[in-house]
Amino acid sequence: MLEFVERLSRGEKLNAPELGQLLKGAAHDSNVLKLLRHYAVRTAQEQFGLGVYIRGLIEVSSYCRCDCMYCGLRRSNRTAERYRLTADEIMLSAEEGYKLGFRTFVLQGGEDGTHTDEWLVSVISKLRTLYPDVAITLSLGERSEESYRRLKEAGANRYLLRHETANSELYNSLHPSSRGLEHRLDCLRSLKKLGYQVGMGMMIGVRGQTIDDIAKDLELIAKMDCQMVGIGPFLPHKATPLGEEPAGSLELTLAAVAIARLLLPHALIPSTTALATLSPTGRLEGILSGANVVMPNLSPSDVRAKYAIYENKASWGKEAAEGLEALEKELNTIGYHIDWSRGDYIY
Ligand code: 5AD
Repeated sequence: MLEFVERLSRGEKLNAPELGQLLKGAAHDSNVLKLLRHYAVRTAQEQFGLGVYIRGLIEVSSYCRCDCMYCGLRRSNRTAERYRLTADEIMLSAEEGYKLGFRTFVLQGGEDGTHTDEWLVSVISKLRTLYPDVAITLSLGERSEESYRRLKEAGANRYLLRHETANSELYNSLHPSSRGLEHRLDCLRSLKKLGYQVGMGMMIGVRGQTIDDIAKDLELIAKMDCQMVGIGPFLPHKATPLGEEPAGSLELTLAAVAIARLLLPHALIPSTTALATLSPTGRLEGILSGANVVMPNLSPSDVRAKYAIYENKASWGKEAAEGLEALEKELNTIGYHIDWSRGDYIY
């Protein structure tokens, strides 16, 4: 087991069976997890020092045509309150974020059929013109390659699209209305080809997922050589078919984050909101497992509660944009600080 950790820390890639053994070891033996996190933090510090990048998250719509079993925004959830930001509201959130010092905006939303290419192009172009120095990240689900191309030309730089699972049977069981894993991977390949910095990732502990599945996720992430990796625990949402399932494990999530860091030393890895929601110390533990990004919320406060992919989302104080000072203080307690630069992927 320790040999696997050492090999990873020397930059070797392990295969899925080896990664599976390591994850199981880390889940059961706190010393294995500790060593893994130690090397992951060392690797992250070699790349990024003690700085943590911030990304201003603007949740543009809670309408979604998908019906993902785990997600509170699934279209079958009739109890979800839906909202959609206007272009002006998005511009206001960005203005506030820019003044606060954010140099990345993440436009994230459900797959909202009213978000046509024309509409998105006009919003992205306005942002690009007003803020030539920011990075624009999109997280808007599956679209055609042509659409991705137009959004890129309008000024988008990065795209987050979690692959969710590398196991196509599990993929289908979690995403009843989807076009399947291969289609998802085709989207990721298109985005990469178009020159986006691309993020993928998965939840830990969703129903039906085994540790060997997580190992395959990590192997796929390494193989795709993506620039960003989002990993968080599954959290149940009552109004979904998985509402009674247990949340994912903190230890396993931290192990997966640490392995992702060692497999992809340059990657931008957020300490996710889901991790902060699972545990009060989750945000810092993510950073102390090799994560180097946090994504505070810039959405107008009246809509934040409605963007409920899971319940009780950590979204006040430190998570909210106005809590940047609190975030800085929190990071300082472990010797880290906010890095205010744009934080692009460095090859
Ligand atoms: N718990 C944790 N993460 C979730 N996501 C969606 N629903 C949940 C949930 N209940 C994740 C998915 C998705 C991202 C936006 O959030 O991985 O890609």
